[in-house]
Amino acid sequence: MYTYEATKRDIVEAIRRAAGADADLVLSVPPSGVVADLALPCFPLASRLHKSPHEVASSLAGAVHIGPRVDSVRADGGYLNFTLARAPFASSVMSDLAQWKDRYGSHDVGAGRAVVIDYSSPNIAKPMSVGHLRSTIIGAALHRLYASLGYTPVGINHIADWGTQFGKLLYAFTAWVDRQAYAEAPLRELLRLYVKFDQEAQRDPTLDERGREWSLKLERGDPQARALWQEFVRLSMSEFTKTYDLLDVRFEHVLGESFYADKVDAVINEAIRRGVAVEDQGALIVRLDDVGLSTPLILRRSDGATLYHTRDLAAAIYRLKTWNPAQLIYVVGADQRLHFRQLFATLRKLGYDGVFVHVDFGLITLPEGRMSTRKGRVVFLEDVLEEAMLRARRLVDEKNPELSADERADVARIIGIGAVKYVDLSQNRVKNIVFDWDRMLSLEGDSAPYLQYTYVRARSILRKSGDAVPEGVFDPRAAASAPEWGLITLLARFPEIVLEAAQTYHPHLVATFLLSLAQAFHGFYHEVPVLQAEDAPLRQSRLQLVGGVATVMRGGLDLLGIRVPERM
Ligand code: ARG
Repeated sequence: MYTYEATKRDIVEAIRRAAGADADLVLSVPPSGVVADLALPCFPLASRLHKSPHEVASSLAGAVHIGPRVDSVRADGGYLNFTLARAPFASSVMSDLAQWKDRYGSHDVGAGRAVVIDYSSPNIAKPMSVGHLRSTIIGAALHRLYASLGYTPVGINHIADWGTQFGKLLYAFTAWVDRQAYAEAPLRELLRLYVKFDQEAQRDPTLDERGREWSLKLERGDPQARALWQEFVRLSMSEFTKTYDLLDVRFEHVLGESFYADKVDAVINEAIRRGVAVEDQGALIVRLDDVGLSTPLILRRSDGATLYHTRDLAAAIYRLKTWNPAQLIYVVGADQRLHFRQLFATLRKLGYDGVFVHVDFGLITLPEGRMSTRKGRVVFLEDVLEEAMLRARRLVDEKNPELSADERADVARIIGIGAVKYVDLSQNRVKNIVFDWDRMLSLEGDSAPYLQYTYVRARSILRKSGDAVPEGVFDPRAAASAPEWGLITLLARFPEIVLEAAQTYHPHLVATFLLSLAQAFHGFYHEVPVLQAEDAPLRQSRLQLVGGVATVMRGGLDLLGIRVPERM
């Protein structure tokens, strides 16, 4: 158990003993201005003991005896404030770091159980937009977070490669394709065809019929329809793969919607057999009013076509049976909230039990409004990543002329891609983001480059001292000043932050934490001499702090999928 966790556990146990009662005891970090390291609100205990919080706090302050890592306990209104014993606490944190090394902050709560995470899941024959960036980046971060909790994450890319829209596209392609444009930029040409179909269909309603015919051909395995469809899938995947490579994003499985085309019938039959699905005007639906959803889930339309919902249901059942996961997680925009509520409710009606989570996130909008592929109002992910790396490259060329061209390209990639990821991961995912080139590509302030720079700075201090983080006893004098103690408590809290970020599906908690760590480190570095410390024991203990910052910064960024350069 990590020092911080053990310390808090000791405190809570001691309070329970002293109070002779149990209640919800949650320790928190007191607001700045309160001279204490941890605080306990006594309100829940007070109501249990039928006393005022004030009374409870003051009687406990005298009675409680806590192990070696706590120095003093004081009552302050309805709160108990704890001051940690700096020397033993700091040396225990430093020995955690020395023991866990790069794995500091990881846990084994998962015990190897699978967690299925569905993320990215773009649409075939459409370029990935910055909208899919969110799912990809947040999903990949959750994948890393769950791995560090000791789970076996099963990352799935649920590519949209099936459904009636392909009939439309096949028709549009055979009627209007511009061969040259298709050869040069296939996905953009396919997007043009999508948009054109919709426009033309508004004038000529018979087109929808043509679309349906092609859709049927595809489903029945017509060779021309199949071959074209396969080509669209192949071209799209090769574009997506380039993006995933740039982003360093991997999946255990790419299983598109078409994978479930031959599995939906069994699911539909199961739903009928269990009386969960009923006929309604020729369609087959699952009524959900009893669970507060007035819109039913449609399994099969009256024309016989199955839908996105049907394939998602088949996919969920497949995942549950294949991996028996501790959780099924879907990282998909908030605009699909209803879809997932329907899906989860239907699963439960069918008797499937488990933890089903829709990790939703806000839209990325443009200053002129919502993005829309149909209206051609999109920002392409590819363009964003290229531009990010270009801007980073200009910066690196200017600041690091000593590096070779290859090294500079590498650093520019790490910085540019990191900056884009950070914008997404540093704010609460539920908020909408207005896309802004300058913010997306910012290399300063609250940004990935600032955190990467913190790491580089810490590493360069260690290099000057002979590279390795010195081991050995931690000198209590190195926990004496406010900047030193601030760093120590931050380093101590990191494992708990990782746990919380994973369990609440909020990677931004890690990002916010790293920003505080960076700020604390820069403060420390300005005020406290490290390489010039008065004597050797002090110097080596402060170097341990610097080493801890480097480890936690690199490890934290790694959880977000952001790499660090050695120089910048
Ligand atoms: N392809 C869908 C879209 O772009 C997202 C799919 C999400 N995953 C799922 N299992 N429904 O809107």
